[in-house]
Amino acid sequence: MIYIDNAATTWPKPESVYTAMDEFARQFAGNPGRSGHRMAVESEKRVQGCREAIARLLNAESPDRVILTLNATDGLNIALKGFLRQGDHVITSHTEHNSINRPLARMAAEGFITFDKADSDPDGSVPTANLEKLIRKNTKLIAITHGSNVLGVVNPVHEYGKLARKHGIVLLLDSSQTVGVEPIDVRTLDADLIAFPGHKNLFGPMGTGALYVRPGIQIRFFREGGSGFKVEQEVHPEEMPYRLEGGTPNAHGFAGLLAGVEFVQREGMKKIRDHESALALRFADALRDNRKVTVYSCRTRDRQLGPVSLTIQGAQPAEVGAIMDEKYRIACRPGLHCAPDTHRFLGTLPQGTIRFSSGYFNTVDHVDAAARAVNEVSAKV
Ligand SMILES: Cc1ncc(COP(=O)(O)O)c(C=O)c1O
Repeated sequence: MIYIDNAATTWPKPESVYTAMDEFARQFAGNPGRSGHRMAVESEKRVQGCREAIARLLNAESPDRVILTLNATDGLNIALKGFLRQGDHVITSHTEHNSINRPLARMAAEGFITFDKADSDPDGSVPTANLEKLIRKNTKLIAITHGSNVLGVVNPVHEYGKLARKHGIVLLLDSSQTVGVEPIDVRTLDADLIAFPGHKNLFGPMGTGALYVRPGIQIRFFREGGSGFKVEQEVHPEEMPYRLEGGTPNAHGFAGLLAGVEFVQREGMKKIRDHESALALRFADALRDNRKVTVYSCRTRDRQLGPVSLTIQGAQPAEVGAIMDEKYRIACRPGLHCAPDTHRFLGTLPQGTIRFSSGYFNTVDHVDAAARAVNEVSAKV
């Protein structure tokens, strides 16, 4: 199988991730932070080690500002539902994943908040000026993606940070597609809340993610119960990170994610990023002369991540996805990619596009085979 669906989740994972998870499951899988025996202590070392590795990656003030979550969706829900208050106004964009769209839509439908969506440029990125013109007196939050999961274009998030600071607005970034490939330094990037999964470009397993919370930002309790901390207290502890975590964590997953983050740091983010964008651009270029294929991506190396979306004239994306799987043994993702507004903007509703998203373990041969397959399929419709 040629796997080119890395924007959904990366595969394969580095060997060190498989080894760390296998070793953890066989030798150390006690309940972290609970019992005092050596297995529980080893387990806690992995979970806390993962938190510390992520804090180093983000240059965070302290590992306590990193909440370990189930995935990006979990982190975004904790941030949105825990930060917003009755009557707040939110600015978001037309390029969001449903993990921002849906919580906001629900809160607005219940009369709790209001929100506006900023338009994007033709390349799918959202200009800062489009956010600025939506600011109102009661705007408390800008909730926006760092990089599009459909088009692979990176947003100017440093400008967003400056805008948010200038107006005293909190900035929540969905860094699902960028963490591990775009440098995120919270000392220079004015983002207050940053949510991301562990299972994409950090090479952890599914069921892992994190939320960074800047000191001074108060998020209401989301889940309360056992935490192994201040056990005698009647109510859930106020202190971070316990405040926003509860119950036995996915320690198997975080043991793997720790190895994944260490892999990213060893390889170097720039090397990973350059490889992924080079493959994406090579793939897009190989389809350039095919008149039946429309490629939707920005084609600028420094702003293009791995995902490239396309349509083939006269072919349904779902059908093409099935042919890729069955005939060519290529894994890609047709459809709306949980980002219906982006497809509305591209004019690709309701069927969507076919997304090929290159990852670090893809090769030139993989993307060339995918481009040949797209050209062959388009020749037959
Ligand atoms: C931009 C973006 N946001 C959020 C998510 C949701 O991530 P998860 O499935 O880890 O919750 C994804 C996943 O594809 C994504 O690409």
